[in-house]
Amino acid sequence: MGADALGAFSESRVKLVNDYLESNLLRFEKSCSQRFEPLIEAMRYSLEGGGKRLRPILTLSAAEALGLNPKDVLPAACALEYIHTYSLIHDDLPALDDDDTRRGKPSSHKRFGEAVAILAGDALLTEAFGQTLLLSESKKFQPSQILEVVELLAQHAGVRGMVGGQLLDVTINTSEASLPEIEFIHIHKTGALILASVLIPTKLISIDEQKIQNFRRYGEALGLAFQISDDLLDSETSIRYSRGPRKKPKPCYTQVMSPSEMKQKLNLLIDHAINSVSSLGDKSKNLVDIAEFIRARKA
Ligand code: FPP
Ligand code: MG
Repeated sequence: MGADALGAFSESRVKLVNDYLESNLLRFEKSCSQRFEPLIEAMRYSLEGGGKRLRPILTLSAAEALGLNPKDVLPAACALEYIHTYSLIHDDLPALDDDDTRRGKPSSHKRFGEAVAILAGDALLTEAFGQTLLLSESKKFQPSQILEVVELLAQHAGVRGMVGGQLLDVTINTSEASLPEIEFIHIHKTGALILASVLIPTKLISIDEQKIQNFRRYGEALGLAFQISDDLLDSETSIRYSRGPRKKPKPCYTQVMSPSEMKQKLNLLIDHAINSVSSLGDKSKNLVDIAEFIRARKA
């Protein structure tokens, strides 16, 4: 997986993100006690576990579409990958999904034990907010704009977004979940962080409300489309390379829709996402490519 998964167009951006993530891990190694090395090893294990970097690439692409230099938003892109990575580590724990593998390898708690896995997730979540503040390093953004990014991240990753969605995901009576309920969970559990990835650059530049709404429509449609494509991939094989066999039933679209209905909904959402940014012309090319990747993804 990695660079190829999002298409050749994103290879240079995946490298940009990976180099930035690596430089931050080296910074942690240099600046904290050697006795904390096991924690950094666990953070590195999951950060370098073969993720597609969808969320940071979305932030870089949205920034470019708005005329920002993608390199200037790397701290926020990195923060998103930290939050995404922590969520996967915690999601795999026995108390939640109890998954032994992630991306074809032992999940964090299987490799390092539950205590270290929980702490690696805690460290990634905490450092994500520290990373966001590094947006000031480029000297391109106002402190008030950076604070808006921090609020956006908290809103989409916390109780109002991903964590709230995750609560329902693990507590709902799966066999009785209706389509609106499943959609509500997916919009929060998966969609919120994807939407945040698209909206972050809109906080770092002065643009009109109509443009912000177009980015919002793109991000909302893409977030839901991504979860439908995820459920479709799950339905096509009971043992996914990326996740292994499921021990616990999950609320998902396959309970309430046939695969062909899911594909139809996926296509409608992707078309809607692409139409939402079409007024940007050539500048929307990377955002359109990402949407097309999600329409056709196999991993
Ligand atoms: C796969 O992303 C991940 C999802 C479809 C999101 C699932 C949501 C959660 C696990 C939320 C968990 C929240 C808490 C608070 C524990 P991907 O295909 O981009 O993964 P990759 O990085 O492996 O490519
Ligand atoms: Mg899970």
